[in-house]
Amino acid sequence: MKVQPAAAMFFAVIAASASGGVEAHAQPGGQPAEAAAPLQVAVPGEEFLPAAVRAKQQDDFDNPAFPFVQAGEAAWAKAEGEKGKACKDCHGAPPEQRVTSAVVSYPSYARDAKQILTLPARINFCRKHALRAPELAEGSDQMMAMTAYLRWAVRGRAPTADVSGPAEAVLEKGKELYFKKIGQLQYSCADCHNQNFGQKFGGETLSQGHAVAYPVFSLGQKRMISLDERFRMCNRLARAEPQAEGSPDYIALELYLNWRSKDLPVTAPGVRP
Ligand code: HEC
Ligand code: HEC
Repeated sequence: MKVQPAAAMFFAVIAASASGGVEAHAQPGGQPAEAAAPLQVAVPGEEFLPAAVRAKQQDDFDNPAFPFVQAGEAAWAKAEGEKGKACKDCHGAPPEQRVTSAVVSYPSYARDAKQILTLPARINFCRKHALRAPELAEGSDQMMAMTAYLRWAVRGRAPTADVSGPAEAVLEKGKELYFKKIGQLQYSCADCHNQNFGQKFGGETLSQGHAVAYPVFSLGQKRMISLDERFRMCNRLARAEPQAEGSPDYIALELYLNWRSKDLPVTAPGVRP
């Protein structure tokens, strides 16, 4: 890997504080970025967590994200908006197979919206057009509740990225972005998550950066964190410009992550330190 002086120092720091456990799978250099840093085996993020955090995630009664799941379930059945309709009126309660199949494949191309939608964008599309209800803000308790509920409903199922049609080019773009060095520190996502997973970084252990646990509850921040917010946190670590929710780059990255973690079951809603 070609590293700038600042980056070399950064990785020296994380290497020096590495505490054994999972080994980083650094690849020999001299090859194109992607070939030099493929992910050999997909390891879920939970493997890199302290045991107590992992246990919290697995126990619905102890998982601090679970009240959001319950609020989402209630909202699913509640009539809202000018049309006085509830999600369940069109999609069944609990959500029918059709919905759950879509949830594991999002972001994907939606024929009615004529664009690629993430799950929050899909929820807002239906609120706006099917319910005539106000859209939900990113990171709002209501949006966190609905995404947590729908992702919880597909727990244990593997993501099935639909990369046909217009999604194909978006997947390629996502892959490119994942290996692109960005920000003042010139780190790519792959520098941290493909080449240095298992290493200590600050107080945390770098995982492979899968999205299957999202949205998650952060114990440190005592609130839910969306995937886009995690992307922004990662951008800041590279001292790169964070982007707004639903930016084309974030949609492409999310689609790529969904494709990349197709062997890992959804574990949402996750719990993180
Ligand atoms: C009036 C009927 C209607 C209501 C009410 C409705 N939707 Fe939808 N929803 C649709 C249609 C139509 C699609 C697109 C199906 C397709 O592309 O084949 C869809 C698709 C979806 C999908 C993706 C699954 C799929 O089949 O593509 C999700 C997730 C979803 N809606 C969530 C919601 C949520 C959350 C609510 C409540 C806030 C809601 N919907 C309310 C009509 C509705
Ligand atoms: C400077 C190192 C660094 C870079 C670069 C970086 N991340 Fe991260 N990322 C982290 C840290 C630290 C965490 C929290 C611990 C963990 O799960 O790795 C994290 C977590 C994540 C998670 C959540 C994993 C989980 O299971 O909770 C995802 C998804 C993610 N990153 C995606 C990305 C993407 C996409 C990029 C490129 C845009 C990126 N990261 C770039 C350091 C980085």
